[in-house]
Amino acid sequence: MEKIRKIVFPVGGLGTRFHPLTKVIPKEMLGLLDKPLIHYAFEEALAAGVEEFVFVTRHGKNSIEDYFDYVIDNLPEFYTNKRGICYVRQTKPLGLGHAVLCAKNVVNNEPFAVMSADDFICHHRSCIGDMMASYNGKNMAAVIEVQREDVSKYGIIDVDYEQDNFIIAKSVCEKPSITDAKSNYGIVGRYVLSHEIFDVLSDLEPGINGEIQLTDAMMQMIPTHGLVGFKFEGERFDCGSKEGILSAILHISSHNPELQPIIKKFMSGEK
Ligand code: UTP
Repeated sequence: MEKIRKIVFPVGGLGTRFHPLTKVIPKEMLGLLDKPLIHYAFEEALAAGVEEFVFVTRHGKNSIEDYFDYVIDNLPEFYTNKRGICYVRQTKPLGLGHAVLCAKNVVNNEPFAVMSADDFICHHRSCIGDMMASYNGKNMAAVIEVQREDVSKYGIIDVDYEQDNFIIAKSVCEKPSITDAKSNYGIVGRYVLSHEIFDVLSDLEPGINGEIQLTDAMMQMIPTHGLVGFKFEGERFDCGSKEGILSAILHISSHNPELQPIIKKFMSGEK
């Protein structure tokens, strides 16, 4: 199977759930202690052996580029290992599917990965690396089991059958109501996709919330490219929400010997 060399980081979203902060700071630059979310995503992709990092960015997001100048300057082996980094622009936030489409001319005719930095996955294994290693030509998305009352926040898979960590999908629906949801398996921000998705995305009508939805494109491709849900190892935090970012910070801190006592003290109500 063709090696996955390129990854797309869509960082063009508005991040309205963090307004007013994200009026001036990109959501992807929100920090989990000493590193921004996008740095954790970058490290997961680096560990997976990605060669080309493509950021789909937008007006007001320049601090991401400035930040990665610093990161790459401190990774002397980055360019010598044939790696590269580039930025394309999404001029309007028309949805995740549209952001991915903006990367078309950089990805060209090869399968590629996509990662949303606001889905932080904490594990010693690289989730996207495991997905890239098991890619077999079928479109693939990371999935978690979500609470029934949360199905309308996710793309939900209709399960054909399950095999080990893989769920073969019959169909997928973006943000269904509780009554319409066909399972509790929701897609989170890790994908490995055929480049043929670009043709589908460019013809796609806006879906739910008036956005060009990546899920709708994956749905259209099921007859030709299948869709596989990947149940990954590790804990995932939705850092696009306040609860998620707080939980992620607490999670990391509780594994940090310097910070453990501070959490303990806070929890005990000690002054
Ligand atoms: P979200 O659905 O979380 O949207 O995007 P958002 O705008 O970032 O945040 P809220 O819902 O308003 O608070 C999921 C991923 O898709 C990217 C986001 O940057 C995030 O990584 N995205 C979304 C784009 O790159 N462009 C878009 O037009 C929309």
